[in-house]
Amino acid sequence: MWVSGARGEANKNDSPSAHYSGQRASDVDVCEGQCDDFQSRIQKGLSIAPVPLNLEGKNGDLVGLGSYLVNAVAGCNDCHTCPSYDPNDNPYKGQPGKINARDYLAGGVPFGPFISRNITPDASGKPAGMAFEEFLHVMRTGEDIEHEHPQFGPLLQVRPWPVYRHMDECDIRAIYEYLRAIPHAEPGSCSSPGQ
Ligand code: HEC
Repeated sequence: MWVSGARGEANKNDSPSAHYSGQRASDVDVCEGQCDDFQSRIQKGLSIAPVPLNLEGKNGDLVGLGSYLVNAVAGCNDCHTCPSYDPNDNPYKGQPGKINARDYLAGGVPFGPFISRNITPDASGKPAGMAFEEFLHVMRTGEDIEHEHPQFGPLLQVRPWPVYRHMDECDIRAIYEYLRAIPHAEPGSCSSPGQ
């Protein structure tokens, strides 16, 4: 089932839970009991997602919480979407700020010799091509499992994994679930983050 993301849906009276059925976040082992307290974050997350979400076979609470963490807390968009905003609606220029949905989280933002990677789902639906265990490992350790720049060492640079590694496992699972629910995209073109 595809539901419309964010804009436009935010003010509807129906609760986001009307858009999905099935497992609740609290049914997932790592989140037992936790997400019941997160309903306002879950709903905010579902309302600010800038792309349509594919909730089929997914846990809607976790997707909503993941969207909240990605879009309202962790700032993944500014580094992983190229360009990050609609060129005519950029918050850094004092405009309201509309996320570039077409290239959302597809990577390609240059940081000197490092380029952010595509973290949208691959053809098999895995974000950045990673199984959850790999994703968790990368979030916890910052290891570059693709070994893209051995000259700089085994760790991912730029990305704030020294901060993200302290997230609890339920939050990391929520981010992973959200990244599974967004559409696959390819990088656009940009010359710096937040552009
Ligand atoms: C400050 C910029 C920045 C932010 C914020 C950021 N990233 Fe990144 N991320 C990068 C860069 C740059 C790379 C590639 C680093 C390298 O080549 O060493 C990367 C790499 C990754 C990778 C490794 C992908 C792979 O294929 O190996 C994952 C996964 C990832 N980021 C997820 C996220 C998520 C999820 C968020 C938000 C919670 C996030 N990043 C926020 C800059 C950022």
